[in-house]
Amino acid sequence: MNFTQNYLTMNKIHNYSAGPCILPSEVFNEAAQSVINYNNSNLSLIEMSHRSGEFVEVMEEARNLVRELLNVSDDYEVLFLQGGASLGFLMSAYNMMRTNKNGGYLVTGAWAKKAAKEANFMGKSTIVASSEDKNFNYIPKDFSLGGDLDYFHVTSNNTIFGTQIKEFHNSSVPLVCDMSSDIFSREIDVNKFDLIYAGAQKNMGPAGTTLYIIKKDILGASSVNIPTMLDFKTHSDKDSMFNTPPVFAIYTSMLTLRWLKKYGGVKAIEVTNNAKAALLYNEIERNSLFEATANAEDRSNMNATFILKNDALKTEFDNALVAANINGLKGHRSVGGYRASMYNALPIESVQVLVEVMKQIEKKSA
Ligand SMILES: Cc1ncc(COP(=O)(O)O)c(C=O)c1O
Repeated sequence: MNFTQNYLTMNKIHNYSAGPCILPSEVFNEAAQSVINYNNSNLSLIEMSHRSGEFVEVMEEARNLVRELLNVSDDYEVLFLQGGASLGFLMSAYNMMRTNKNGGYLVTGAWAKKAAKEANFMGKSTIVASSEDKNFNYIPKDFSLGGDLDYFHVTSNNTIFGTQIKEFHNSSVPLVCDMSSDIFSREIDVNKFDLIYAGAQKNMGPAGTTLYIIKKDILGASSVNIPTMLDFKTHSDKDSMFNTPPVFAIYTSMLTLRWLKKYGGVKAIEVTNNAKAALLYNEIERNSLFEATANAEDRSNMNATFILKNDALKTEFDNALVAANINGLKGHRSVGGYRASMYNALPIESVQVLVEVMKQIEKKSA
């Protein structure tokens, strides 16, 4: 079987994985080609210097596409770094600490909880509000921010629990956001945020790089001593090339961003994402066998979490999913049930197939 045949077979899978996850099919073709022979240079992308003109161009295009797609002004720096969003928890705290050495956190899930923990390494964290009382099935909205916070950290989309912030908090406290699982899925006003970070492995590319969008006036403004590699200024001063960048992850992310631009940008993909989510949530509501786990008003358009009310039907439903080539629907162990991750590259046809399987099982069990 040659590469194309192999790829076509692979592509028949309806990939609902939570991340790493589905990427646009043309991205795979180009990314694979770049490893064999990058732009007819007779060199692989992964064996050429990151200081070469070729790769510097890739880095610049990737950073510029982020600016273009999210309408990022010159007041912000755009960097592609390493360490995943998990290092972002620590880096954001190091770089955002000011005189109070106190970060405020909206704890809406496991990732937010982990982020809050990291602030205690160089300062302290204050839990402004939490939805842990109901296993994170909602977004707290009734809270105020104390005057002694250096920043306020939120998670735009809770990948595990299937909730999403629909409107970001307005306040004078600098806003920091982990957008790992919904960046580029909907229009946002970057000007509301002092810092945005997102691991690549959902709407951008393979794991290995993390996108940072940083308001320039926070560079060098921390009140704590930051280790060199964790200081945004180190990376900003060197145009995101302080040390060897993860070239393949950045190149593939750049290809995905090119794909998104061709698609019509964030505005266009948001329309599709809304349609996909509506299709699935409507079926979950309509179908007597299923129940959504997240509060209706806070449901995520990226990760829909739901349960099968009658456990006795589990094997039958799971077998039907396999027969329909649906992959990655198993819920996270802390929620159970099912989780349909509908990232940008998942076609609406995959959601139609899932909805059809849900209808069929209801019919059969009637
Ligand atoms: C919202 C969110 N934040 C942070 C992380 C952790 O990312 P990483 O594995 O890149 O450290 C994840 C991973 O899925 C996530 O979904």
